[in-house]
Amino acid sequence: MVVHVFDTPAQVAQAAAAVIAAQVLQKPDSVLGLATGSTPMDTYRELISLHRGGVLDFSRVKSYNLDEYVGLPAGHPESYVSFMKRNLFDHINIGSYSLPDGSARDLQRECESYEQAIRDDGGIDLQLLGIGNNGHIGFNEPGKAFTYSTNLTTLAQSTIDANKRFFDSIDQVPRQALSMGIGTIMEARSILLLALGEAKAQAVYQMIRGPITPRVPASILRGHARVTVMLDKAAAARL
Ligand code: PGA
Repeated sequence: MVVHVFDTPAQVAQAAAAVIAAQVLQKPDSVLGLATGSTPMDTYRELISLHRGGVLDFSRVKSYNLDEYVGLPAGHPESYVSFMKRNLFDHINIGSYSLPDGSARDLQRECESYEQAIRDDGGIDLQLLGIGNNGHIGFNEPGKAFTYSTNLTTLAQSTIDANKRFFDSIDQVPRQALSMGIGTIMEARSILLLALGEAKAQAVYQMIRGPITPRVPASILRGHARVTVMLDKAAAARL
């Protein structure tokens, strides 16, 4: 695990976009694993401006997102597919994108076919991750065991509390989601994890310095050969 600490969130976004750009330039038909949340938003803005500037062509890129809420009506502004369209896909020429379908009738089957689609596309070249205040990656919440493949998961109360800022009231935050599993994430050929702000400092500390345990799902990343972590000073404060 290589850890870089930057002075500002803007520098994290520029460095992260540079890594993603290098991946796409090196392999124009890359399969990218993408993430939602506040953390990657400026990175996506940087990618959009590289695309507009003629530097980056996404036409052969395929992407798979980490997760999607279960139970939000189609087109809900806070669904992760809406987020991704608004913050990235509507502004670049992405070849294709996929998210798990949280309104599928058979959720178990949806998990299996999502996993299979990633495999059929040759696996993920570069997976972008944030980290939850509780150490989750995707919606793999702290628990007794690491999940393996894409799964139906119940959000931890700490995640519901963290995500209520996007909804009118806490009752509207979905309680369940479909998420790539820890195994799905670990199979990516390379991983780029970003964390910003002091609210993430404890989770970052546990990921890097604590025991590898399913109680801190991100800690498993220390077992992956190609993980880059980019932090701003506030998120690195406890290291
Ligand atoms: P955030 O979420 O980027 O909105 O902080 C990260 C996460 O929960 O994984």
